[in-house]
Amino acid sequence: MRNIITKSDFQSIPRQRISLEERHKAGMQEKYCCGFKIMVYPGVFGTSYDSELMAKSVQISKSENFLEIGCGTGIVSLIIGKKAKSGVGVDINVRAVVNSKHNARIFNTKNVVFYKSDVFSKVKGKYDVIICNPPYTKHTAKDDIDRMFWDPQDKMKNRFFNGVGKFLKPNGRIYFGWANFGDIDVDLPFILAAKNGFRLVKVFTKTHPKLRFKLFVFEFKRI
Ligand SMILES: C[S@@+](CC[C@H](N)C(=O)[O-])C[C@H]1O[C@@H](n2cnc3c(N)ncnc32)[C@H](O)[C@@H]1O
Repeated sequence: MRNIITKSDFQSIPRQRISLEERHKAGMQEKYCCGFKIMVYPGVFGTSYDSELMAKSVQISKSENFLEIGCGTGIVSLIIGKKAKSGVGVDINVRAVVNSKHNARIFNTKNVVFYKSDVFSKVKGKYDVIICNPPYTKHTAKDDIDRMFWDPQDKMKNRFFNGVGKFLKPNGRIYFGWANFGDIDVDLPFILAAKNGFRLVKVFTKTHPKLRFKLFVFEFKRI
């Protein structure tokens, strides 16, 4: 499964540093994502092209349930929730959980619940679809806000692939967000997926219109 991604020249850390400074200081903001008006709370990932690619890529039916690890503003869970039977969105950042609940009220969504969890630590049940648009970059984090971009020692992504099998139904699907930044190990999702018994079945991709790196959503199933 390796070598399907070529690295771009884009170095993520300098730009993420600037964004994080802004996210630490910013007040409550209104934003459009996928055509929906949402609120973005201070200290929460403000949604981007990767959120939109994920919301468009996930395939789910009215009889299926889903779990999203790292829900941010809740936008992906709320859009997928319209097509699904029910869903759960979790995040390590309590601001993201409160933000997602606020957006659920704007969407008038009743079939998706949000709560705080460090990856799967508080999750129960089995799911047809498990979604994760993780922090892509391996970097130290001084607080939970930094974790929107930075994953110390790539631990969150390792824990996601080590644990996902326990919560995925036998024929379930994983949708995992990724990018070809020049300063990350672009093969990491394939290594972790293979190590934990998953195979790649589909790739969704989009080029960032301004920064020219590629965004991906990988669909994985059990081998
Ligand atoms: C790139 S953002 C994606 C947010 C949202 N899914 C979207 O696409 O707009 C990554 C999210 O993962 C969350 N996160 C990071 N580490 C986590 C962990 N250990 N457990 C749960 N969520 C985590 C962050 O707080 C952040 O909200």
